[in-house]
Amino acid sequence: MTKVRTDSIKSLNKESIEDVKMKWERKDILGIRELSPDEINFILDTADSFVEISTRDIKKVPTLRGKTIINLFIEASTRTRTSFEIAGKRLSADTINITASSSSLVKGETLIDTARNLEAMNPDIVVIRHSAAGAPHMIAKLIKQSIINAGDGAHEHPTQALLDMMTIRLRKGSIAGLKIAIIGDIAHSRVARSNIFGMTKMGADVHVAGPATMLPPFLSRFGVTVHTDMGEAIRDADVIMMLRIQMERESLNIFPSLREYSTYYCLNQDRVGLANPDVLVMHPGPLNRGVEIAPDVADGTNSVILQQVTYGVALRMALLYLLTGGTL
Ligand code: CP
Repeated sequence: MTKVRTDSIKSLNKESIEDVKMKWERKDILGIRELSPDEINFILDTADSFVEISTRDIKKVPTLRGKTIINLFIEASTRTRTSFEIAGKRLSADTINITASSSSLVKGETLIDTARNLEAMNPDIVVIRHSAAGAPHMIAKLIKQSIINAGDGAHEHPTQALLDMMTIRLRKGSIAGLKIAIIGDIAHSRVARSNIFGMTKMGADVHVAGPATMLPPFLSRFGVTVHTDMGEAIRDADVIMMLRIQMERESLNIFPSLREYSTYYCLNQDRVGLANPDVLVMHPGPLNRGVEIAPDVADGTNSVILQQVTYGVALRMALLYLLTGGTL
């Protein structure tokens, strides 16, 4: 990021407004691992300023008029794809959606050739979801346009972690010092990986829990406390993030039955009672009600699951804005 002197801002209020503004310099958003705490805070500050637009009667501003955003989703999505499309449209960008079944990938074209052909049409940003870890990174090296990783295999889901951190920051004021429990299929979850990178960087006390077969080795090296007992992880927690079992990434039968899994790892009201009374219950979606989260908890007073989705639009508006040269 670059600090740019802005006398016009300075003249508004010499006492309370800093005489600098920040400019984003990365070409791509590929993962949380490479972002600094300052960069994360800068993205979240920018996203906060976009929340209000979605509450207006006319939810559209001209900020990205003339810009083109391609959403290339080679894996299923409801929330991420829709919110990127809404984010682009609310900023007046032209948005194009491509899915695996509607593209020439089904005729045998490679991802690299697909990306080169998209580059030739000169979009400004390509948002990519792919089942292969590293696919967005490979495309980012190959083409000149900005790439946003919308989820690559079990590797990272940076925009989900950013919207999760945005939700926590808006609800709790700050992330530093909070006890955050992430529960479930840690080994196969890109959401868990990105949030572990992000929340530890932001100073949270991160605890993870799941069956031993869903906990990757060497997890504690990432600065988290590892449990197999869910109760230990969520006791006195400020935030509980539940994860679904990533059936599409399971190559082995790593738990006996869904009933047994939910006996030990479903967040029900009794377990919520172990946490702080004002605990935030989070889930990236899609939910498997009755497996990892009880319906009355998903819909209960501590749940911010739909708030996460709402903030996801503002967060993605902020990323599109920053990657096309916007400043805060
Ligand atoms: N959280 C999330 O990535 O949801 P989708 O798979 O529906 O995009």
